[in-house]
Amino acid sequence: MQTRTEVGPLETHVTQALVLGIFDNGDQSLTGPIAQLDAALGGQIRAILTQGDFKAKAKETLALYPHGMIPAKRILLVGLGKPSAFTTETVRQIAATAAQRARELGAEDLSIAISSLEDGELSAESVAQAASEGALLGLYRFEEQKTQFEGRRADPLQLTLLTPDADMRAELDEGLHVGAVVAESTSLARDLVNRPANLATPAHLVETAREIASSTGLDCRILDKPDIEALGMGLLLSVNAGSGAPAQMVILEHHGTRAADLPTIVLVGKGITFDTGGISLKSGAGMERMKGDMGGAAAVLGAMRAVALLKLPLHVVGLAPVTENMLDARGTKPGDIIRSLKGLTVEVINTDAEGRLILADSLTYAGEFSPDAIIDIATLTGSRIIALGDHAAAVMGDDALIERLRTAGDVTGERVWPLPLFEAYKEEVESDVADVKNVGGRAGGTIFGGAFLSKFVPDDVPWVHIDIAGLESSEKAKPYAPKGASGFGVRLFVEMLRRWED
Ligand code: BES
Ligand code: MN
Ligand code: ZN
Repeated sequence: MQTRTEVGPLETHVTQALVLGIFDNGDQSLTGPIAQLDAALGGQIRAILTQGDFKAKAKETLALYPHGMIPAKRILLVGLGKPSAFTTETVRQIAATAAQRARELGAEDLSIAISSLEDGELSAESVAQAASEGALLGLYRFEEQKTQFEGRRADPLQLTLLTPDADMRAELDEGLHVGAVVAESTSLARDLVNRPANLATPAHLVETAREIASSTGLDCRILDKPDIEALGMGLLLSVNAGSGAPAQMVILEHHGTRAADLPTIVLVGKGITFDTGGISLKSGAGMERMKGDMGGAAAVLGAMRAVALLKLPLHVVGLAPVTENMLDARGTKPGDIIRSLKGLTVEVINTDAEGRLILADSLTYAGEFSPDAIIDIATLTGSRIIALGDHAAAVMGDDALIERLRTAGDVTGERVWPLPLFEAYKEEVESDVADVKNVGGRAGGTIFGGAFLSKFVPDDVPWVHIDIAGLESSEKAKPYAPKGASGFGVRLFVEMLRRWED
């Protein structure tokens, strides 16, 4: 979809769907540009509000047909709810709702009147970002494998952010740029998670990383299986042992524009393109969902794309170890003891606890970049779903780094919540026959993932582990994420990195 900003009055604007936000502020008064528009409409909006036909509850919509009184073919009123509860999350949600409604109605373009979304507290830039993010993400669909499109409505071709205030133009342009980059990068991550494992293979993830690099100017290096063997990443190789597709490691690197001494942040994403569980086989019901077990890698790829396009003044490295977790005569068996890149030996109690194995070697490898911070993101444990449900990822590790993620999470709606990593938890992953084992007890399972990983983090580097299991996709549609992949992590990372120097 094309995106643009425009300066001009609402009542002369040409569009097939003019989106107007209306606050539920009790007095039904209209002011400024909306009052001017309403005058051109002979007071229709005011009449609808005073009659109580539209209550402006959050996400409530109503279509009006101006019959030539103004050039806009339709007006979509969309409720903003109470001003006290209004945030950028509201803007994303209502923009998505309006864009979906415009599509259902067959509108070929839509224009959002940004001045109608201002409450005097949010900056015009952040409103513009949220509106474009919400509209673009709300229209996302995964349909590359469909050959039949009965009854399908085409997407609107153009999104315009409209303001009557010329002074606001620069802020709208910037917000729209950031919002579009972030939404497209999130959509890329969604595609990778939605795409099935016969298509989204390790080689496909590598190819996608190469394409991202060549279209954005990121550096891209790939460690192939022989490189991984030569380095001694025994844990990654042990997970790969049962697969017909060789393990690979994606390395994307963004060198910020200011030459000297930028902070170095390494992002590491779990890239299991399909998780059968290995010899510790998963049960059949719902196993197709394990095509999304590369949701962490997808988030890192998407975030790296955005970091490059937004030219952030940071040195950011994205690592993604990629392999399937299959089962085969050559596969790893429960009880096998494997030597890690770090040198620690690992007793593999359960081959289904594979994510922490491939991440452990990757965290050690991250030390090569002398990082100021390392953050890994992974669909690691079913227990994450039990502990926190649908509305927060689990985080463990460095307090200051967790605080950065909490701030970014509150702004983006991709929220995180901390779990402890007390020494006692770390002791539970010590093995009788090797240095460590890859599982702890059943209770507190998410923490044992973090406790295991902590053993492989380079000394004195602040690190956080983000467990997003279950959040990579959803069976329920959300306002700006239809059923299926969410792209969780892209917006969280980009927001955290944009605020890094705060
Ligand atoms: N990929 C799974 C975790 C997962 C579960 C992701 C549900 C998305 C939705 C992970 O590799 C796994 O199998 N974890 C095991 C760990 C256990 C064996 C210690 C789990 O959670 O059961
Ligand atoms: Mn598993
Ligand atoms: Zn897994």
